[in-house]
Amino acid sequence: MTDQRSAIHNAVRDHYAGIARQADPELKLSAASCCGDSSAASCSCNSTVYDPALLQNLPASVTDLSLGCGDPVTIAALRPGETVLDLGSGGGIDCFLAARQVGPQGRVIGVDMTPEMLERAEANRIRLGMANVEFRRGQIEALPVENATVDVIMSNCVINLSPDKAAVFREAFRVLKPGGRIAISDIVTVGDFSAEQRAQLDQWAGCVTGAIDVGDYTDLMRSAGFVEITVVDKADADAIVTPAPGTPRILSARITARKPA
Ligand SMILES: C[S@@+](CC[C@H](N)C(=O)[O-])C[C@H]1O[C@@H](n2cnc3c(N)ncnc32)[C@H](O)[C@@H]1O
Repeated sequence: MTDQRSAIHNAVRDHYAGIARQADPELKLSAASCCGDSSAASCSCNSTVYDPALLQNLPASVTDLSLGCGDPVTIAALRPGETVLDLGSGGGIDCFLAARQVGPQGRVIGVDMTPEMLERAEANRIRLGMANVEFRRGQIEALPVENATVDVIMSNCVINLSPDKAAVFREAFRVLKPGGRIAISDIVTVGDFSAEQRAQLDQWAGCVTGAIDVGDYTDLMRSAGFVEITVVDKADADAIVTPAPGTPRILSARITARKPA
């Protein structure tokens, strides 16, 4: 991995480790500040992206650590018994929502590279008593998952953070079963950030300057082998990220695709 890619991974890991530490109830710090300095661009703590009915009976330790920009679980239309993989599972909110839908015969695997996030997610899993959820440490560019074992991949506001999105989609394609599907909520742009803007790693870690043009994003998916790629919905992401002036239009998008059967 190049120095630049390592630098991005390190900046992103440090950012989310800090958020996870702040959300740790044992540290008694305010979860309200979990997105850090409000003057900087950052993902919002955003359980408002879900239908409130979905969040019933989830503790604040889960909903307060919701850092997504959409609801990929609902887009995925999960069925009982399916195996689901969450790329960048954070505090685990989408894994827990998915686990309810796939039921005891199904299985949910969350992958995240930030140990502090994995600790929070595992503590939440134990609290909820969910035996069909498992969290694994790893990078989404090199998934710790066997070939062709997953029915559905979901991801919520994570792929924009990757320094190697082509590798993410290659890996997603590898681990999906033939006919498997992917449901993504993510930040994308219309146009590109400049090299100088991309070099601002605090903005990258805040889900802004790592985002790429929506056409390039779907091209990477197509190159990895995905078919039936749809950008289901797009909305200006002003409520989710706070970009600096002079940036391209930033969108929160829902993207779905399938691995050929
Ligand atoms: C914006 S948060 C979203 C968390 C979760 N999906 C949610 O909706 O609350 C991004 C998460 O992705 C993880 N992450 C970012 N880049 C990653 C990578 N390259 N590999 C694995 N995990 C990554 C971070 O550690 C963090 O937990």
